[in-house]
Amino acid sequence: MRIDIITLFPELLKSPFEASILKRAIQSKKASVYFHNLRDFSNHKQKQVDDYPFGGGAGMVMMIQPIDQCITLLKNERDYDAIIYMTPDGQTLNQKNSNHYSTLENIILLCGHYKGVDQRVRDQFITHEISIGDFVLSGGELAAAVFCDSIIRLIPGVLGDESSALTDSFQDDLLAPPIYTRPSNYKGWEVPEILTSGNTPKVEQWREEKALERTKELRPDLLNES
Ligand code: ADE
Repeated sequence: MRIDIITLFPELLKSPFEASILKRAIQSKKASVYFHNLRDFSNHKQKQVDDYPFGGGAGMVMMIQPIDQCITLLKNERDYDAIIYMTPDGQTLNQKNSNHYSTLENIILLCGHYKGVDQRVRDQFITHEISIGDFVLSGGELAAAVFCDSIIRLIPGVLGDESSALTDSFQDDLLAPPIYTRPSNYKGWEVPEILTSGNTPKVEQWREEKALERTKELRPDLLNES
């Protein structure tokens, strides 16, 4: 998978890709991520990328010209499966969407700032609009990093243990069951006995029960959706 990220603040975005699972995914060429600084595409002398909104009102609007230039250049080089705008008024991301996006070959992510982008950018170039939740960030960069993490880890071979993405919370509309590791007794706080019994079918059954119990208690809305 190739991800091109268009941003005003590439430095905000770099570190998530320089450690742990995302770093490994990039090193093993399962994913490649490129940053494009929008200012480099401005045809203004002062590298201006925003301007006042027509009709007045608070805040600045990201101009169409540098965004058009950047997206057009990328599209001339390859076909894109999705051109995504990160925005609080987009479709809220969930695991089902992440599964889908993780199967795509080439995507562009556009990070918004200020009041957002000129509507004509959304009308002419954007194929999907994604929000990571009902709250407003200072810009789309952190949202883009969250989105990239959620999809890259799902690319086959990226996670060491092939089955571990399948047992994540939300993969089957359930929260994950509780997990424990050694020691089995810490300060008298014991691990549930079943987990150290070696009885795999019983352990599986216990995990399913606990997953359902946890979901009923913490996220009953997930059960009502399906
Ligand atoms: N940009 C600002 N807030 C955002 C959010 N919640 N999701 C995606 N992009 C954003």
